Amino acid sequence: MIRFENASVIFERDIFALRNINVHIENGDFAFLLGPSGAGKTTFLRLIYRDLLPTSGFVTVNGKDIRKLNEKQIPFFRRKIGIVFQDFKLLYDRTVYENIEFAMVSVYQRPGFIPKKITEALRLLRLEGKEHLHPHHLSGGEQQRVAIARAIVNSPLILIADEPTGNLDDDISRDIINEFKELNMLGMTVIVATHNEKITEIVSNHKKIIIKSGELIENV
Ligand SMILES: Nc1ncnc2c1ncn2[C@@H]1O[C@H](COP(=O)(O)OP(=O)(O)OP(=O)(O)O)[C@@H](O)[C@H]1O
Ligand SMILES: [Mg+2]
Repeated sequence: MIRFENASVIFERDIFALRNINVHIENGDFAFLLGPSGAGKTTFLRLIYRDLLPTSGFVTVNGKDIRKLNEKQIPFFRRKIGIVFQDFKLLYDRTVYENIEFAMVSVYQRPGFIPKKITEALRLLRLEGKEHLHPHHLSGGEQQRVAIARAIVNSPLILIADEPTGNLDDDISRDIINEFKELNMLGMTVIVATHNEKITEIVSNHKKIIIKSGELIENV
């Protein structure tokens, strides 16, 4: 479960990127985080994976106050969270397989366990046959799927995606959201930040969190 309690983030004096946010996201929820550019969506997500601490208030993820995590605990904490970055952040000098492998090696997964998990992730994201290609030989939608495969390969409890359909056309956006739906049905908590309200229609029973200028406008 993710809990924001009166959480605020101030980057510069008197400028609130987030102001007194109170939000609960339950395990297994599919949540859309909506709001225009500059609303505070990325800042909200960065708090969840403890890339940032609240200036005031509390953020609790899986029962842990993120402020109380020490340096040693952070990698283990992050292992439970898969992140799909807006700009993918793939390693362009490595193959699809190596990109996913790197995500596993960097959190010290058991070596014997790695190939099987990668094969599973490739199958789930329909990337079989692409494993030995470099990302620049893939389409935008395929690169996005590699980014998702990498985010889920360590079996996170929470999947976070920041504008995952930002650069993609409508059909591919629909495919991507449908992938997230499947992962959500497997039990993963999914949080998708977007400025595109239209894509929320693809998921029935979603939670909607709307922020504008750092303030919570709607939370249903
Ligand atoms: N590292 C930072 N230093 C200073 N100000 C920042 C920083 N990161 C974000 N901000 C400011 O905080 C506000 C919220 O930014 P944020 O990136 O969270 O918005 P966003 O909703 O993700 O926007 P977009 O849809 O354009 O990605 C903006 O006004 C932004 O300029
Ligand atoms: Mg953003």
